[in-house]
Amino acid sequence: MKFSFSASSIEKAPAGVVRVRLTEEPKGTKRFAREATGEFLEIGGGKVSEVTQRTFIPLVRAIVQTAKREKVKKIALDAAALCFPKMKDVSDEELGSLIAQNMLMANYEFTAYKTKPKDGFREVSEVLVLSASKTMQAGIKKGLTIGEEVNACRTLANTPGSDMTPQSLAKAAKMAVTGLPVTVRTLQVAEMKKLGMGAILAVGRGSDTPPTFTIMEYKGAAGKPIVLAGKGITFDSGGINLKSGDGHEMHMDMSGAASIIHAVALAAKLKTRKHVIGLIPAAENMPGGNALRPHDILTSLSGKTIEVINTDAEGRLVLADALTYAKRFTPSVVIDVATLTGGSLSALGLYASGLLTRDDELATQLLELSETSGDYLWRLPMWDVYEDSVKSTFADMANCVSGGAGRYASATNGGMFLWQFAKELNCPWAHLDIAPRMTSAPGDELSKGAAGEPVRLLYAFIESWKA
Ligand code: BES
Ligand code: ZN
Ligand code: ZN
Repeated sequence: MKFSFSASSIEKAPAGVVRVRLTEEPKGTKRFAREATGEFLEIGGGKVSEVTQRTFIPLVRAIVQTAKREKVKKIALDAAALCFPKMKDVSDEELGSLIAQNMLMANYEFTAYKTKPKDGFREVSEVLVLSASKTMQAGIKKGLTIGEEVNACRTLANTPGSDMTPQSLAKAAKMAVTGLPVTVRTLQVAEMKKLGMGAILAVGRGSDTPPTFTIMEYKGAAGKPIVLAGKGITFDSGGINLKSGDGHEMHMDMSGAASIIHAVALAAKLKTRKHVIGLIPAAENMPGGNALRPHDILTSLSGKTIEVINTDAEGRLVLADALTYAKRFTPSVVIDVATLTGGSLSALGLYASGLLTRDDELATQLLELSETSGDYLWRLPMWDVYEDSVKSTFADMANCVSGGAGRYASATNGGMFLWQFAKELNCPWAHLDIAPRMTSAPGDELSKGAAGEPVRLLYAFIESWKA
């Protein structure tokens, strides 16, 4: 999708370009109109006085979705029509960035496995923006880079498990930063064994495709790094505690990892003056003959032993070793991102990821950034009383609660398990349970499949974090 700019008025948009007209009709009104003066896409956004940043995002996306539906390739829009009274605190640059990010996100379709139709895939190829200030134009340029990385993250997550193995995920991390000042190193099984990464190795044991552990480093500044770790389960069958039925879309269980890869790439592309490290523990959770069994006891990289109550609580195991590995970088802050629990979906539905942290300042910062980035978060408790959920009779801890009680507060319990490792870091730490936002939801105005969250939030966090 190409953006170009012009100072002329929208009435003078060149022939063949469809003009966007925002109306005060109810949200969801989408119309293609052919008039004597030209062609128009009419998009209802509700009352102009009521549009907020939250409703602005799907509104901008609806423009592109409608254009795609109508097979419109070139659109023109007036920047002035996208300035709403309730968004007056949003700078011109930020507004431009939001427009570009969200238009690109709405234009995305996962077509890698589809035969190209004769008239091509439906996508908008050109957006002509009229009367955009220089700062808004700069914002649009930045937003395009952000949108590209979000979409690249979606492609990784959408790729089927057969083509997205731990090895391919490691390769994807390298590919994402080719030509950028980012170093990428992948530990293979032999090195992981030497280090004693007993938790991630155990998860990978049941699969024919071995686990990997990838370290990305972007040093845009000196000083203690921001460490980001992402759950990279390239397919989660549940293991011996096999998942039943269909509809789990567990090839996307590496969505956390994909978001870290592209957040690091984004920081490098935008030359952010921060030191960022991305950790990608990747494994496939399969029920092979050598698979991890319920009640096996593992020794994690930290030295702590873990009793496996349920082999389907595997994400926390690979992240445990990643959190311990993070310690060697003496980080200023650690954030992990994971499609960790179905419980976070039960608690929050489809429109917010879970935020689990014991650090109130970090929570406030992340919640604020979630509002402005569009990758929404909602905080869940991490109080001491929940720590009982990781108690084990025979090991230092258990990976989850056994029996029926395991149904309750499982997002918090997952957080409490990770906390057992994060507490050794001696720096602020947060866990984002993105299971609710793994895929797009009705009303998002995005194509079906991976949502690419929380790349925008992670980038905003990297930009704003003061070590
Ligand atoms: N990857 C799943 C969680 C998940 C579910 C992500 C739905 C996205 C959508 C995770 O590994 C898992 O299976 N968690 C278990 C934990 C339980 C055994 C304590 C769950 O949530 O049921
Ligand atoms: Zn699982
Ligand atoms: Zn999983």
